[in-house]
Amino acid sequence: MKEIFERRSIRKYTGKPIPKEAVDKMLKAAMAAPSAGNQQPWEFIVIDDKTIFEGIMKCHPYSYMLKEAQLAIVICADLERETHIGYWQQDCAAATENLLIEAQHLGIGAVWLGIYPRKERVNGLKELLSLPERVMPMAVVSLGYPAEAKEPSNRYDPLRLHFNKW
Ligand SMILES: Cc1cc2nc3c(=O)[nH]c(=O)nc-3n(C[C@H](O)[C@H](O)[C@H](O)COP(=O)(O)O)c2cc1C
Repeated sequence: MKEIFERRSIRKYTGKPIPKEAVDKMLKAAMAAPSAGNQQPWEFIVIDDKTIFEGIMKCHPYSYMLKEAQLAIVICADLERETHIGYWQQDCAAATENLLIEAQHLGIGAVWLGIYPRKERVNGLKELLSLPERVMPMAVVSLGYPAEAKEPSNRYDPLRLHFNKW
């Protein structure tokens, strides 16, 4: 559980490459996520091509950390595999969070970059990555070994809790 509490967004990276086994573990963790009716609408694009990083930075205004990232993983949904309509974002978000927690477990720094529902980012990535019409990009996770350390944040707030009724 400590990975959940210690995870922070890491936006500075060393140049150390991420081994393939680590990438496999992050993808396995992502695909272990729950999904509505177990529909598993997710698809993942693993990117190590710096020219594609440049393309993402052009259509996403808050993705500068990709300049130094070793890898990026794009979490997408294949909308034709959505049997429980309206849940794909929640399914892909669960997969993304699992991926971040596994990255933390492996000592890899990561940050979630939101794509959906920003139209210009969605359209930019669709074109850049040649996504079929039915495939919707939801998030990019930027990855690299950390070159910054952050304290765990404590966001627990008992005032947000309600029992039985509001
Ligand atoms: C849906 C979503 C979209 C996000 N988009 C961005 C982004 O575009 N760029 C960025 O640097 N961080 C992004 N973040 C990371 C948040 O800024 C970060 O999680 C938040 O500030 C809390 O900090 P922490 O992750 O270090 O705990 C995003 C996080 C989520 C969940």
